[in-house]
Amino acid sequence: MKLLSAPHPFSFILFGASGNLAKLKIYPALYVLALKKRFPENYAIIGYSRTEMDKAAFRKLVEESVHAQMPEVNKKVLDDFLSHVHYVSGQYDKAADFAKLAKTISSLEKGWKNAVRVAYLSIPPMVFSQVVENLSASGVHDKSVPFRCIVEKPVGHDLKSFEDIRMQLEKCFTEEEIYLLDHYLGKEAVRNVYYLRFANPILERLFKNSLIHHVEVAGLESYGLEGRSGYFEHTGMLRDMFQSHLLMMTSLLTMLIKESESTIRESRLNALKQFYLPPATNLDEVILQAQYTKGKVHGETVAGYREEEEIPETSRTNTFAALKLLSRESRWQGVPFYLRSGKRLGKKETRISIQFQEPHVVGEGSTPNRLDIILQGEAGMRVHLQTKVGGTTPSFRPLILEDPLVCTGDCLPEHGLLLLEAIHGKQNWFLTFDEVRTAWRLIDPLQSHLEQESTPLYFYPAGGNGPEEAVGWAAKDGVTWVV
Ligand code: BG6
Repeated sequence: MKLLSAPHPFSFILFGASGNLAKLKIYPALYVLALKKRFPENYAIIGYSRTEMDKAAFRKLVEESVHAQMPEVNKKVLDDFLSHVHYVSGQYDKAADFAKLAKTISSLEKGWKNAVRVAYLSIPPMVFSQVVENLSASGVHDKSVPFRCIVEKPVGHDLKSFEDIRMQLEKCFTEEEIYLLDHYLGKEAVRNVYYLRFANPILERLFKNSLIHHVEVAGLESYGLEGRSGYFEHTGMLRDMFQSHLLMMTSLLTMLIKESESTIRESRLNALKQFYLPPATNLDEVILQAQYTKGKVHGETVAGYREEEEIPETSRTNTFAALKLLSRESRWQGVPFYLRSGKRLGKKETRISIQFQEPHVVGEGSTPNRLDIILQGEAGMRVHLQTKVGGTTPSFRPLILEDPLVCTGDCLPEHGLLLLEAIHGKQNWFLTFDEVRTAWRLIDPLQSHLEQESTPLYFYPAGGNGPEEAVGWAAKDGVTWVV
């Protein structure tokens, strides 16, 4: 099997090079690609940000990020990788700084053949437009060189700002040059939701509204703000996790499976378009929000959200939300989907749980069947059945079949895999504008509702399972969260 690698020289220009995402995910992912020999002889990683520093300081920052995230580091590989790393400091709105960037890139690319340029925008949406315009004006985006512009989710802050960004991107780039990235779509485990269905027709037989009571899609996190207070206070959990990650997981579960991967974006979009908010007299029946207070996570005392640095004492930003959706897709009609995500919970777990209807024969100890697909945390697939306990009265005990679901084979970090696919011009696992627009259309009214002073904001101690109120909220529909 041919492993995916970058076939030609490339320049990777990272905007937001001193930011949290870069340190946490992007540099370690690039190092892994270097370690796995996925890079050609000629390539350049060029960091761009407003922070003043020289090349040596930037290489140190990259080196430290790799050490912080990797359990083991190969010094020789890391040193060679760092020799490809460069830095330009500049403002996002200054043409002269972009001219400096363009000059650096041209000198690095001297003598390269068939080079590809990839610009990665890991920056706040409000500076997108300036960067995009300057990329074209400075000639960094030059029609004679294949170009990819990768934009991190969330694309925009709401439907309106998304449309502004889309217009700006479309003005400067062709469709083939735009890559809207949701890193969950680069996770092997998340893609596997699609492939599990594809490879196991038996699952398709079970995924039917007459058999299913409800579906839970959970994105539980134990970590907090991780140095991103400014971003998070302005964004909140609904925009941060639901607008893309959770909705994409739900779409992969419900979309129609086709033979060819080439239509996957279309099928995802169609599935997403089928979701709607259940009719309700008050949106509080459809969505619930909460915020963490001081507590203990993995034995360590952590501050409450309002005590975090840069967070106002009166903040009403949600760090937890639970949302109920329905689908118009015929086989899922009437099945409620409960999406739930929160920060500073007791554990990190990303999971889809499909709870089937109550069994016909009910005896003592009997519980409904359930299928858990655990994508992160203790990744695995778990089928909850039950079996009779010996005796004359029907009484049951759980029978659980499970197997780990860990990536074996060519496992690449999500940002690494997506970067290689972008270099190849492969867009299947990147979002389309239509998908992002459809997601904002669902999220916008909910976000407006949550922002109203009259909408309740509940509280939960860090380290637990979220707010008590969420338990009662789900119980009204006969739903118990999986813990
Ligand atoms: C990011 C969000 O997109 O995804 C973060 O901005 C969140 O707030 C993160 O913590 C979760 O990603 P992962 O890969 O750790 O599950």
